[in-house]
Amino acid sequence: MPPTSSRPRSFWDDAVVYQLYVRSFADSDGDGVGDLGGVIRRLGHIAGLGADAIWLNPCYPSPQADHGYDIADYHGVNPDYGSLETFDRLVAEAHARGLRILMDLVPNHCSDQHPWFTAALAAGPGSPERARFVFRDGRGDEPPNNWQSVFGGPAWTRVTEPDGTPGQWYLHLFTREQPDFDWRNPEVLAYFDDVLRFWFDRGVDGFRIDVCHGLIKDAALRDWDPAGGSYNAYSWNRPEVHEIFRRWHALAAGYGPDRDLLLVGEVWVPDPADLDAYLRPDELHQAFSFDLLVQPWEAAALRGAIERATARTQVHGAPAAWTLANHDVHRAVTRYGIVRPEPAPESNDAFAALMRPRGEVDAELGGRRAGAALLLLLALPGSVFLYQGEELGLPEVQDLPDEARQDPVFHRTGGLEKGRDGCRVPLPWTADAPAFGFGTGKPWLPQPEWFAGYAVDVEERDASSMLHLYRRAVRARKELRLGRPGPVEWLTTGADTVLAFRRGDLVCVLNTGSTRFAAPGSWGEVVLASDGSDVVAADSAAWFRTTGS
Ligand code: NOJ
Repeated sequence: MPPTSSRPRSFWDDAVVYQLYVRSFADSDGDGVGDLGGVIRRLGHIAGLGADAIWLNPCYPSPQADHGYDIADYHGVNPDYGSLETFDRLVAEAHARGLRILMDLVPNHCSDQHPWFTAALAAGPGSPERARFVFRDGRGDEPPNNWQSVFGGPAWTRVTEPDGTPGQWYLHLFTREQPDFDWRNPEVLAYFDDVLRFWFDRGVDGFRIDVCHGLIKDAALRDWDPAGGSYNAYSWNRPEVHEIFRRWHALAAGYGPDRDLLLVGEVWVPDPADLDAYLRPDELHQAFSFDLLVQPWEAAALRGAIERATARTQVHGAPAAWTLANHDVHRAVTRYGIVRPEPAPESNDAFAALMRPRGEVDAELGGRRAGAALLLLLALPGSVFLYQGEELGLPEVQDLPDEARQDPVFHRTGGLEKGRDGCRVPLPWTADAPAFGFGTGKPWLPQPEWFAGYAVDVEERDASSMLHLYRRAVRARKELRLGRPGPVEWLTTGADTVLAFRRGDLVCVLNTGSTRFAAPGSWGEVVLASDGSDVVAADSAAWFRTTGS
């Protein structure tokens, strides 16, 4: 029996969480950049979807070299987004609507503008200031080892010492503006304890934790062996990392059961079974099931990922955290709509090709599949994270002009990889308003003309839109309590393109094939179908229930 039963019920056992990329959600002050005032103004949209919580992408003061994942001050709010006062107001208004607030915790690295890092540069080699980061002497004029940055190029940058000579190198697994902390240094541990408390004390309900698998590096910083693939076993998934999560688990638990705080990890590991260690009962409460997100549109592949993730739950009782999209991956409509795949460019990122596959896209087909995938997701036990704009069925904006692109992935790979701007384009709210109602200023990324067709007001008026499907499906998931812990019982469908499983008296059917599927009468009647019909058409999903149940 999973140990779920031994702990009290938590909101994250079956929550629907709306992932909100602040910069691109809604702009309340006309500077072309989304902000917390915009979030407050549009809370009704999120509540209307039936969400239980909001995960805010980083909104701390940051030079935005990686759009907030380069933090200069962990105790404040980016002035473009508001102030601590606006933040407090957001927490209060969200709570008043029954929406919890999750922050993004970025512990692997800070910004090169963080006062600790500027002090480290000024203090010179061997100083306690440098010991908070990973500074090393080079091998002659070469970096200390051969590690590569996830975003392209080497993971080391050489500094100029205070006396003007070329000096040590510092490690950055992402951009050079994101120096990695040394998590073996107790000062770093103490600093982050304080960060967690600062936000918990302000009322936040938990954290999504960035790059959990990267915090601890090999003590000897050994060279990576490229023969083993681009996943560097010396920089990722080191066993000592778990100590940190145990510490944070205890810190969160110290707030008592009434606060019901969540730590959900971004953990990328090559073998999903490696997630088990992160989900031990005294570590992270949850980790995203990226395994499902990266699967192709094939019933067997999707089923395999669901089986693996539900097996995780059996090990330690941690409910799955399902997701099909986020701010780092191509939008679901685009991933599922690829009709002629193209080879991926070479990348330092072991998962880039899976997260951002390329090829010719049929957006109409992708839209049907994304709606079907939503029903699959919402029928599963665990919590579900829905990325903003997915509820509108937005496709990836693939044709952003190069000069508009801001993602360091684009710039550090010399444009070889297009990067992540295409899923971060500011949302369309009103078809015929300037910037489609995002705000009165020029949006920080250009919105294509075709966004008009996906605007919230347009979808509002169309009962067959993705927006209405989202609302109906989330409502039905709650009424039928589909997120609750419990088995996923696989049913025989007789077709390898169709998967079906039972949860209590509900049967979820996903048809990835090109012909309709006739469900046996014993599964009952259709209560919700992604294409609105009463059969399981090609590239659609439906929920069945026996009448009277
Ligand atoms: C993962 C985040 O989701 C991504 O957006 C960011 O660029 C990297 N971690 C580095 O913080």
